[in-house]
Amino acid sequence: MKILVVGNGGREHTIAWSLLRSPNVEAVYCTPGNGGTATMANCFNLDIAVDDFQAIAKAVKEQDISLVVVGPELPLSLGITDYLQQHNIDDERGSRLGSISNRRIAVFGPEQAGAQLESSKSWAKDLMNEAQIPTAKSATFTDATSAKTYIQEQGAPIVVKADSLAAGKGVIVAMTTEEAIAAVDSLLAQGFTTLVIEEFLAGEEASVLAITDGQTIRPLIPSQDHKRIGEGDTGKNTGGMGTYAPAPIVTPELMERVQKEVLEPTIAVLKRRGINYRGVVYAGLMISPTGEPKVLEFNCRFGDPETQVVLPLLDTPLDELLIACTQQKLAQQPPIKWKSGSAVCVVAASGGYPDAYEKGKAIAGIESATAQGAIVFHAGTTLKDGQLVTSGGRVLGITALGENLQDAIAKVYPAVESISFEGMYYRRDIAHRAL
Ligand code: AMP
Ligand code: GLY
Repeated sequence: MKILVVGNGGREHTIAWSLLRSPNVEAVYCTPGNGGTATMANCFNLDIAVDDFQAIAKAVKEQDISLVVVGPELPLSLGITDYLQQHNIDDERGSRLGSISNRRIAVFGPEQAGAQLESSKSWAKDLMNEAQIPTAKSATFTDATSAKTYIQEQGAPIVVKADSLAAGKGVIVAMTTEEAIAAVDSLLAQGFTTLVIEEFLAGEEASVLAITDGQTIRPLIPSQDHKRIGEGDTGKNTGGMGTYAPAPIVTPELMERVQKEVLEPTIAVLKRRGINYRGVVYAGLMISPTGEPKVLEFNCRFGDPETQVVLPLLDTPLDELLIACTQQKLAQQPPIKWKSGSAVCVVAASGGYPDAYEKGKAIAGIESATAQGAIVFHAGTTLKDGQLVTSGGRVLGITALGENLQDAIAKVYPAVESISFEGMYYRRDIAHRAL
């Protein structure tokens, strides 16, 4: 079977890597992919942008693709799944490959309506309220005056969010009402028309990614991201500087509650709204000091860099799970199998990230890291005249597996240290908070 993965980050390299470990997967095509997918055996990059649906649909036909896995939220929110299903009508291949009806290509990733779980925070809040999912109290505003009145009434700390996709830059956790009011002006000035203002929640964050076929929903192992650039969780927000899994804070009892109080109600309301969701539901949780889980946000795709620790621990072939979702046969799948032990991923970033940084720096030492047993997932890399060079803020995600977290930490850092490029930066405290 041939599979097409849409996207070019560390998450997509990891998805491609995981798929290629299955004996059923002969090749993976990435649109557009990165330096890591370009250099992995049986993996091929196609120079097509993630929002060029027409070219992706053409590639699906030309390469005889059985399954499309969509990595990032942008194409999902623009309706890539709806588009591919409408433009890849192929009875014979459709039925062989287990698409939804036998007239559609199998796509793992929700349709535009379901992607609103991530693309509109007010829509997601509305769904959570309807499903009675525990979450921060919130209100939605389209004008500055009523937003500011609400902030004055509620007091600080308070959180101001842009309703729509904002590439991680749309959330301001304000410690004072003045800061919150300034955030309202700043987000409206940037062109965001709808704001969600919500109660500040204290606690520890965790990510629970679950896969669903629209009827059944099954969680993957819980993980934790480190979103701040600096050690000790200080400094600016980033796309994620490192992850570990399983996250001990999410105990089996808590996971059971998340399943019953968050994941199943989400699917029930999606169904009630007529949305046939086949993909990932990513619940970003805040676990209160007393152990109560509340949803901070939903994403409609795999997390990055959560995927870099979750999939290496997966023992069930990934293609089986994703196809079961597209065929609406997840309930018939045996329980998902996991390797024992833990995984830690450390992100190596370009100096200056998340602000301005230089690109085009030659990367050395990947072979040495791999020889030590680490898995090097590429995020912002490209192949230039046969040489791997940096091409983004987050450059690599170096993952190591270990018997436990301590062991995985002890294995990952020597591997990270054997890699170098000019200006390379990484946090030295990934996963330490869980020890
Ligand atoms: P989001 O994009 O909604 O996940 O928000 C980005 C980050 O802002 C989260 O990972 C949290 O660290 C923080 N955050 C979001 N909402 C809240 C909240 N209600 N209370 C406290 N922190 C929050
Ligand atoms: N790691 C955070 C995210 O994928 O949204």
